[in-house]
This record gives sequence, structure tokens and C-alpha cells, in this order.
Amino acid sequence: MSPDPRLARIPPARWPSREEAVASRLFSALRVGACTARTRTWVPAMVPWRASADGFVTDDVLDWYGRFADGRPGVLVVEATGIRDVPSGPLLRAGDDRFVPGLRRLVDVVRERSGGRTRLFLQVLDFLAVKRRPEKATWVRRFLRLGDVHRERLERSPTGAGIARLPEAELREALLALPHAELLAILDAREVEELEKGYRERVTDVHQPHVRELPRVLPGLFAAAAARAREAGFDGVELHYAHAYTLASFLSRTNDRADGYGGTLAGRARLAVEVAEAVRARVGTDWTVGVRLLGDEAIPGGSTIEDACHHALALARAGLDFVSVSKGGKFDDAQQPKVGEAVYPYTGPSGHECMPTVKIEGGPFGRNLHLARAIRAHLRGAGCTSAVVASGGMNDFEGAERALADGTCDFVAAARQSLADPDWWLKLELGRGAEIRRCLYTNYCEALDQRHEQVTCQLWDRDMAAGDPGRAGIARSNDGRRRLVPPPWRA
Ligand SMILES: Cc1cc2nc3c(=O)[nH]c(=O)nc-3n(C[C@H](O)[C@H](O)[C@H](O)COP(=O)(O)O)c2cc1C
Ligand code: SF4
Repeated sequence: MSPDPRLARIPPARWPSREEAVASRLFSALRVGACTARTRTWVPAMVPWRASADGFVTDDVLDWYGRFADGRPGVLVVEATGIRDVPSGPLLRAGDDRFVPGLRRLVDVVRERSGGRTRLFLQVLDFLAVKRRPEKATWVRRFLRLGDVHRERLERSPTGAGIARLPEAELREALLALPHAELLAILDAREVEELEKGYRERVTDVHQPHVRELPRVLPGLFAAAAARAREAGFDGVELHYAHAYTLASFLSRTNDRADGYGGTLAGRARLAVEVAEAVRARVGTDWTVGVRLLGDEAIPGGSTIEDACHHALALARAGLDFVSVSKGGKFDDAQQPKVGEAVYPYTGPSGHECMPTVKIEGGPFGRNLHLARAIRAHLRGAGCTSAVVASGGMNDFEGAERALADGTCDFVAAARQSLADPDWWLKLELGRGAEIRRCLYTNYCEALDQRHEQVTCQLWDRDMAAGDPGRAGIARSNDGRRRLVPPPWRA
């Protein structure tokens, strides 16, 4: 069968010999903050949906990270972990001391399985409320906050004047009976979004006390979570300021808060810097603290590389040891979810930039390197030595080596390639690149993430179908159909 010409081809790779790998930049050590990574290889955060429903580390979490540790990356970043102690489904939490023992077990497993060769960071985040898309009838009857403004708009509409002054309960029924477009015409933009996509809180909702107070609350919460990560034995934390989450929204050009925490570049960076300073003050200078941020939000009116350079420098000056660069992944342009489902930030154009597939124009390979390059040049130009981590379609030795040699980045991160084959780093290092299982960049894994199902890779399943010798005792996903961790590989 000839390949689909609309899909980017996975570029052929030349794999290094063992000697070449040993002498390479990729497999050379580099200091990152208070610790030294044995190699410049990096597995960025990936949520596998394996924590317990109350946010604890489970045996499945241990198996997952143990399996990545087998491949001995220089750095392994543990998935986005909540800084609050609030129900958030099977996502890890670090919002209370009771989570520390589980996190410590995770550290122990990674130390043991990597032979102490992998540095381990915990990604910590805060996020705001996102509700499922409601049934139209439920929303109109229960959630629409009916006011004079709606009645006035009805009076001005060609067909609505007759119902504008009905008593509330009757008016709600009459609104439900209107053609959909007429109903939408009397709602404001936020109400339309609430009805069509589900309610989503924003950092600019300062009429809500808990949102107004975020600048007072978040520094302490992030600092406490970081201190727990340190207590559990992690080598550092990565502050998650990327994608669709709270700090990314503060950094965004779309943040027009007028209380000193929005508007100007400095205003938008202010809370991010204050959180970084609070974390640094709490954990001290002898422990690694870095950040993941967006080189480009990839939404209309959103932040671009100029904003990212400013923010990265402000954070490096606040004492952060590394800047891991990502792109897109916003709610703003996400697809409409089905009724009963929540909007997912990786479904629109910015989402496709975040986890680019072979379907994207230009292809996913090394797609975001220009962002890392610009940020690193900006930092170095200002005399800052913080390490820069590049990700996005990194899947071969020569591309990685080039990015390190030409000053694009200090670490090369590969998420999906490491998911497809967590041993790929070790295979490269041992001169056994021909055995690498190469990621197809078609996002079977991401579709599982979207449904909050245990993340697995289609290639592991294919191995199973081909008759895996370890098949008898292997752990399966909840649906019983997929292997939970990649098949074993013996070095
Ligand atoms: C299943 C899955 C879960 C992810 N979870 C996170 C996460 O928790 N935090 C984060 O910063 N990025 C997350 N990402 C994004 C990746 O870290 C990475 O930036 C992205 O996949 C692009 O890199 P790649 O082309 O090497 O896969 C996730 C990606 C995947 C595929
Ligand atoms: S499921 Fe597909 S995109 Fe995801 S890691 Fe596996 S091969 Fe790559």
C-alpha cells in the first residue's frame, strides 16, 4: 500500500554506534540547578490516568514510571500533579502531607529501576473549574441567570417581544421553545459558551472572590507542594505554567486583569514570578526548580514568542533553573464537546500544535525548535544560564544532536517517542538504534487521554497481537484489551 501523501512521513533515521553515542552531546552530562543530569535526554510530563480516584500513587503509577526509568533518561518529569487537596479524578495530588509516602515510593522505584541514573522532577499545577456541557433544557431551566437584560433583548427581537414579560418559570419554557439561533441571540458570549461548551472559569473572573484571591493563595500552595516533593525525595519540581492551566492563563495576552496581575507584560508575569519566588524561598537554593511554559499560545490574540521570551527571562531571574518549552493546548479554540462531556484543550488548532500529528501541515518533527531557540538566545543574551528544554516531534539521534550543537536547547525532550518505546534512549546509547520502536505520531494515546482512560500506545498492543512471550501475566487496562506498560526489552 502506498503511503497517504497528506501525511508527513516519519523521516528515516541514522542511528549512532555505541562509540558515537558515548562521544555525543546528547549523552553528555549537564548540570540543571542543584543536580546533574547524566545525559541531555528528557521525558516530559505525561498524564497516564493511573492515580487512585483520591489522588494517590497506585501500583500502576509505579509500574508506569518504573518502565520509563528502565530507559534511563537523564531527566524524567512526573505528570501534572495538583497542588490543592480537592477531588480531581485519577490525577496525582501533592496538596497534603498524606500524599508524601506514595510520592516517596515513586521516587524509590525510579531510583532503583534507573540504577540511580535518572533525575526525577514532579510537575505541579493549579487549574480552574471546567464543567461538562449541559443538556440544553437543564441549562435553560436551572442555570441561566435570567435578568432584565434578557427581557430587554427579547423585546427588541423580531419574535421575542410576546414572551418578554412572562413570569420567570413560563419565560424559561418559552425560551426553550424558541428556535436555537433566537435563544443564542439574547445571550451574552459567556452564556453562549456555557450552553454550547459547558461553564469554564477564567483568571479574569475577578467578580468571584476565589478567583480574585488567586494571587494571594497560589504562592503558598505551590510552595507547600514543592516542599512535599522535596520531602518525598524528588530532585526538583517543574512549575506547570503551560497549556490551559491557571498560571498559563495569567501569563497570557488574553489576561486583562486590572489589579496589577494582568494587562502589561510585567503585570501578566507578576504572579508567575511571585509563585517562583515563594517556591524558591521555601525549598532553598540547593534544589532544582524549573518551569514549563508556552513559546506560543497559538490562538488568535494570544501570547507569542515575544511574550514567552519576556516571561522566561523574568522567571530565570527569579531563580528558576530550567525552562521547558511547549506550545498551544488552549481551551479558547477547543472543539465543542458532546453533551455530558467537558471541553478538552487539545482538540482545536492550538491543541494540534501541542501534540502535533503527522496530519498537521509541515509535520510534527522538530516543529517547536524555533521557539526554544529564540528563548535560549534571549536568556543567554541577558547573561542567564538557565537550561532550555525543547520538545515537539523529537524522535531521532541526529536531530537531537543538531539541536544541542546549534544552541537551540540544552536538553532534548521526547514525550510520545518515549511512550512508544521507553527504552529508546538506552537503545541509542548502546548503539542498538535499529531496535527502536518508532512513534507513528497519530495520537491513539492522546485520544485515550482525552477520554480520561488509561493511556497506552497502539504499538505495544501490536506487539501483543504478534505474540509476546510475557503475555500470560501482563497487566491489562480496565477494558481488558490493552497492555498497561510497554513490552519488556533486554539490553
Ligand atoms: C498522553 C499525554 C499526556 C500528556 N500530559 C502532559 C502533562 O501532564 N503535562 C505537560 O506539560 N504536558 C503533557 N503532555 C504533552 C507532552 O509533554 C509533550 O509536550 C507533547 O506530547 C509534545 O511532545 P512530543 O511530540 O515529544 O510528544 C502530554 C502528552 C501526551 C501524549
Ligand atoms: S499511540 Fe501513536 S502517537 Fe501515541 S506514542 Fe504510540 S505510536 Fe506514538
